[in-house]
Amino acid sequence: MSIENILIFGAGMMGKNIAFVFSSKADYRIVVYDIQHIDVHAGIRVNAAPLISKGILDVDKLERRLSRISFTTDIEGEGIKNADLVIEAVFEDMALKQKTFEDLEKHCSRDAVFCTNSSVMSPSEISSKLKHRDRFAGVHFWNPAHLIPLVEVIKSDATSDKTADTLMEVLAGVGKKPVLCKKDIPGFIANRMQHALWREAVYIVEQGIADAKTVDEAVKYSFGLRLPQLGPMENIDMVGLDLTYNIHHYIFKHLCSSTEPSPLLKKLLDNGKNGFKTGEGFQKWTDERQRQSAAVLNEYLVTMLTRK
Ligand SMILES: NC(=O)c1ccc[n+]([C@@H]2O[C@H](COP(=O)([O-])OP(=O)(O)OC[C@H]3O[C@@H](n4cnc5c(N)ncnc54)[C@H](O)[C@@H]3O)[C@@H](O)[C@H]2O)c1
Repeated sequence: MSIENILIFGAGMMGKNIAFVFSSKADYRIVVYDIQHIDVHAGIRVNAAPLISKGILDVDKLERRLSRISFTTDIEGEGIKNADLVIEAVFEDMALKQKTFEDLEKHCSRDAVFCTNSSVMSPSEISSKLKHRDRFAGVHFWNPAHLIPLVEVIKSDATSDKTADTLMEVLAGVGKKPVLCKKDIPGFIANRMQHALWREAVYIVEQGIADAKTVDEAVKYSFGLRLPQLGPMENIDMVGLDLTYNIHHYIFKHLCSSTEPSPLLKKLLDNGKNGFKTGEGFQKWTDERQRQSAAVLNEYLVTMLTRK
């Protein structure tokens, strides 16, 4: 499958950054579609500003990359017709996503590869009404998509190996770290692990074992430090399967195994405590603390991912 023309369908937070990712390769022409007019170049400029201020990207290079990205609201236009690869990033709504691909199947070529960037929705279900389901897959970019390397490529119950291989190759070619999720399963690979950890973190707070800040510190100052270099599977091999077996045998029965969200989470929400959005969640968040939290994270990600 030869990919030259890329259509990003939906120009919100994810769509803009995904377009920027593909613009790193001079061979690609990227068209961004949205139902409403959106200044995609302006959005990308804002998101790229920290890279420029750190000297990771220069202004000329940014402008060259932007020249490969155009925007349209014309569903009948050339950008849709010529697309070899479509990445959908519209609202997280099953009916909207299904309808989007049914429409795209009418407008795009038979060979175009279709992908959804849905964080949680099943690619098998999203593509269920399509005629050519073999060339459809999930590609789950993480936010911020232009910085986080991982992209999960999720095979639906009908995705062909050829489609999955093409996506792995294309994503690696624009500097991403694609991983293949061989089964269409809720949470794919990384979010399953992330939320297993969050369930236990909330449980520890709920049970009065430690407060929220302490839980975060326990992660940040211990296994959180090694995680970027040492994943759980390598770690198991490193310490020994015997030790791991004995620990799991002893501890698993004590860990939270609830299949419902925590009652404490529900209680806080019911009391209007919705985190940054309302200034308080598990902890209090003034505007200044929120700004600081976002700035520290952004600085850390840029520094770590670009080694500058
Ligand atoms: N935000 C995240 O952290 C994140 C991370 C990974 C994946 N995702 C997934 O990416 C997708 C988009 O998320 P987002 O955060 O960019 O959303 P967003 O709300 O920022 O953007 C959605 C865009 O879709 C457009 N849109 C809506 N209906 C449309 C239609 N019929 N045709 C064309 N465009 C339409 C909207 O105008 C808007 O610009 C969702 O499926 C989401 O689950 C989000």
